[in-house]
Amino acid sequence: MIFYFSGTGNSAGIARLLAQRLGDQAVNIIGADPEAYTFSEQDSVGFVFPIYAYVAPAVMLDFAKKVSCGKAYTYAIPTFSNAAGCTLEHFSQTACHLDGGFGIKMPDNMPVFDKIVETRETAMEKLKAAIPRFEQVAEKVKNRETGFDIYYGPTPEAHTWERGVKFLEAPYFKTTPYHVTADKCISCGVCAKVCPADAIQMREGKPVWVKEDCYICMACLNRCPTEAIEYGEFSKGQYRYLFKGFDLSKY
Ligand SMILES: Cc1cc2nc3c(=O)[nH]c(=O)nc-3n(C[C@H](O)[C@H](O)[C@H](O)COP(=O)(O)O)c2cc1C
Ligand code: SF4
Ligand code: SF4
Repeated sequence: MIFYFSGTGNSAGIARLLAQRLGDQAVNIIGADPEAYTFSEQDSVGFVFPIYAYVAPAVMLDFAKKVSCGKAYTYAIPTFSNAAGCTLEHFSQTACHLDGGFGIKMPDNMPVFDKIVETRETAMEKLKAAIPRFEQVAEKVKNRETGFDIYYGPTPEAHTWERGVKFLEAPYFKTTPYHVTADKCISCGVCAKVCPADAIQMREGKPVWVKEDCYICMACLNRCPTEAIEYGEFSKGQYRYLFKGFDLSKY
């Protein structure tokens, strides 16, 4: 069983490709009941998710805590754009013990800060490099490899155990900075439909963020077909990213 959470498709895509490769099943944790699953020694249980601030998303940590993995082989595949910190150690120590953990660097989906700026070109370079990495990771999972293999980046402990943990205690991404350029919005309702937190409602043909906090998954911003959604000011004119598979001609 492969459980995944994903905003812009990187983690969903990896989970589904892996399931296909291994003859396993990929399950979106949104709407799934973690207590409905029990595993035994011959099973393998995977968790695939994006890294947010050097930790797994809170929604994935909460889900993993409730799954009864028993003596199954457990592993995580974080997708991330830059550096992972101690995401795997944190996951294994606070949510669910991991036998293995294998990172895959993928394009960044958060065009809201000037520190990380992804362009179409840099995104395509990352996707190209991710193809052989996926193959490696699939082999590792197939062979039930143990241990962690991921790019930690500089000062990983501080990033995860200080910054990341603080982030989980009080997520500093509120929905207030999301806004819509009214004349770009075609009232398609995609943003409300894809939001895993049910934080968006369509009112008089336009999206309204009805919750104070959300999962900060960036699905609404990146999946809007007309790029009408902004987060603060920086996102204006920045590259929007959505995983469409490893065939680069689709981008
Ligand atoms: C709120 C937020 C925080 C992020 N933090 C990190 C991070 O700490 N390190 C990193 O390398 N990438 C970070 N990223 C990038 C994502 O982890 C990366 O693009 C991921 O593959 C997106 O997966 P998805 O398409 O399945 O949602 C962050 C993205 C978001 C939205
Ligand atoms: S996805 Fe974009 S165009 Fe569609 S309703 Fe939302 S803001 Fe409007
Ligand atoms: S409102 Fe938040 S949780 Fe919903 S799609 Fe947008 S970023 Fe994701």
